[in-house]
Amino acid sequence: MTKNTPAPALLKDPNSGKEWELPIRSGSVGPQAVDVSKLYGQSGLFTYDPGFTSTAACDSGITYIDGEEGILLHRGYRIEDLAQNCSFLEVCHLLLHGALPNAQEKSAFEDSIRYHTMLHEQMLMFYRGFRRDSHPMAIMVGVVGALSAFYHDSTDINDPEQRLLAQYRLIAKMPTIAAMAYKYSVGQPFMYPQNSRSFTENFLYMTFGVPAEEYAPPPAFVSAMERILILHADHEQNASTSTVRTAGSSGANPFACISSGIASLWGPAHGGANEAVLSMLREIGHPDRIPEFITRAKDKNDPFRLMGFGHRVYKNYDPRAKVLQSHAHEVLESVGRKDEPLMALALQLEQIALQDEYFIERKLFPNVDFYSGIILEAMGFPTSMFTVLFAVARTVGWVAHWNEMISAEGALRITRPRQLYTGEPERPFVPLDER
Ligand code: ACO
Repeated sequence: MTKNTPAPALLKDPNSGKEWELPIRSGSVGPQAVDVSKLYGQSGLFTYDPGFTSTAACDSGITYIDGEEGILLHRGYRIEDLAQNCSFLEVCHLLLHGALPNAQEKSAFEDSIRYHTMLHEQMLMFYRGFRRDSHPMAIMVGVVGALSAFYHDSTDINDPEQRLLAQYRLIAKMPTIAAMAYKYSVGQPFMYPQNSRSFTENFLYMTFGVPAEEYAPPPAFVSAMERILILHADHEQNASTSTVRTAGSSGANPFACISSGIASLWGPAHGGANEAVLSMLREIGHPDRIPEFITRAKDKNDPFRLMGFGHRVYKNYDPRAKVLQSHAHEVLESVGRKDEPLMALALQLEQIALQDEYFIERKLFPNVDFYSGIILEAMGFPTSMFTVLFAVARTVGWVAHWNEMISAEGALRITRPRQLYTGEPERPFVPLDER
């Protein structure tokens, strides 16, 4: 065994006394992993880990999270540095291509994305098929999945050029699709992208602009939206990214895979949490009622949880929540709501929870969703659009992981977890007249 190869772990079956050696694998940083991929073949045993709390499903070089320390790195760079110094598209380049772009690469990349912002005109018919009161995430799932019916020249997953084209198309078209979902719900005309604007400004223009008037978003909005997009761009193997990987593992086309990621993101335990934070703050209503809700959050017989608190991976303050807290103040000030009661309530709730033994013991801290809803609401987004914005941002993470999986060495293996069967053992069939 070389110096760098860790000793294997030993698994012992106490009944038979048999032992198996399981290789230990090391990444570049972070905890080591016991490789159980050959365990069933060798021993006839499966591992059991619902929710994958202790299971790595792939190798990945895109994002690293140290949940204990509250550190998030994209390709080695701290999220705080990226959020402070980069545009969203620079972060997209970093996630997709592994490096921050130089000035020339940045400009070329922006041009490539800009080139794909429009939607096939026929796709606008899709919107008209939805009810006006459809949840925009329902529209997103449908329209993004339908991209595969329009962009046939980017669905061959074995062609690297087609894969790149699909990735660029998805990143570029997602704001257009999202803004149109919003416009449809409020009965306003769709706004076509204006490529003289930046990615983020264009998105705000397509969402809040109307053909009858000039529109320039307030600088605080552009800056906050840019940060929101960066902070949500990727988060390693979260539920929606794992869904995209699982869908892609069968060889499905990229548009179908991203549509499945959007479906997974929709749930309140994932992307829907910032919407839930805002509803919770409104329900609490006044600082005097905070203790009542803290008590409810701790009561195991009450399904209520403190939304925007806790995280599967972070057992410390989510670094993204810190960045967003300062932008919440800026946006509120820019819309003349410096003393916004919901913000004051959120700050107080955070303070009280962080001093409570229940939250301390379980290492429950504010997550990225705790402040993002307040910012988005102040900008004028309806709550139903919050998760849509998350999807716009996360698209780059999804496609980066999808492409990493497809282009990895070796054959693509379909994701196929096992189960611990707890149903009836085999029994004799009972004819209908004897049941
Ligand atoms: N309020 C009250 N108690 C909580 C909360 C919360 N927000 N979060 C976790 N706990 C408690 C659990 O009841 C459990 O207590 P127990 O050990 O006494 O049974 C313990 O903390 C551990 O919680 P788990 O549910 O095992 O943690 P898990 O990793 O499965 O869940 C999750 C993480 C889903 C994010 C959870 O913390 C939660 O529901 N939070 C609120 C929803 C939310 O904010 N989601 C956004 C996540 S971030 C994102 O998707 C971008």
